[in-house]
Amino acid sequence: MSDEIPDAINQQYPGTDSQTECCCDSPGVSQPTIYQDFWRNTRAELHRRDYAKGLATIGGLTAISSLVAPLAGLSQAFNPGYSGPVYEDGIALVDGDGNRIQEDRLDEGEQITVFPEPRPGIEDAPTLLVRFPEDDYGGETDLEFTVSGYAAFSKVCTHAGCMVANREGTTLVCPCHSGLFAPLSGATVVGGPPPRALPQLPITLASEGYLIATGDFEGAIGPGGG
Ligand code: FES
Repeated sequence: MSDEIPDAINQQYPGTDSQTECCCDSPGVSQPTIYQDFWRNTRAELHRRDYAKGLATIGGLTAISSLVAPLAGLSQAFNPGYSGPVYEDGIALVDGDGNRIQEDRLDEGEQITVFPEPRPGIEDAPTLLVRFPEDDYGGETDLEFTVSGYAAFSKVCTHAGCMVANREGTTLVCPCHSGLFAPLSGATVVGGPPPRALPQLPITLASEGYLIATGDFEGAIGPGGG
């Protein structure tokens, strides 16, 4: 089997995700070589594992019409055995190459998939980082969890665990069953079957100018939970 793995995490609405940008766009955030090797190896293994899970799922569920959903959306988010916190106070948000997210990384209207800076026990936790004008946030948004127009939410759909990978205007769209979430209002559900909002991650800026969490997600990740 080819090592070419569909990358759910990188699938974004065209023109809205800057993750595909060269990591050299993040000045002053280079990591030691051993760090990058760890990151690459860990993520490559995860992608292989996720791909196998996706194929197994397809094999068992081909009669289900919902499988018109793209394979990429079937990717799983976490090591099932891990039950500890995903983020903690001070944990940096990093892109797929392990680069920390500087304040000027996104323009308003853009989004990117980020992760907690890796540490033992944390293998993968895709997080949607969006940036909008600060005054556009309202509704269910925890405003104290936002900074400089940035808000972060779990990328794992609360319906069946697909990656919420698409955008229509300002609305986040889950590709599996068209679940719709409003990032300007706490990622509340505005359409489709998801039973609850995507949990928000409290973030702020470190003194060095990159984004960090100030705690863990405010609610359970993915399906189940309350
Ligand atoms: S997994 Fe069904 S709408 Fe997202």
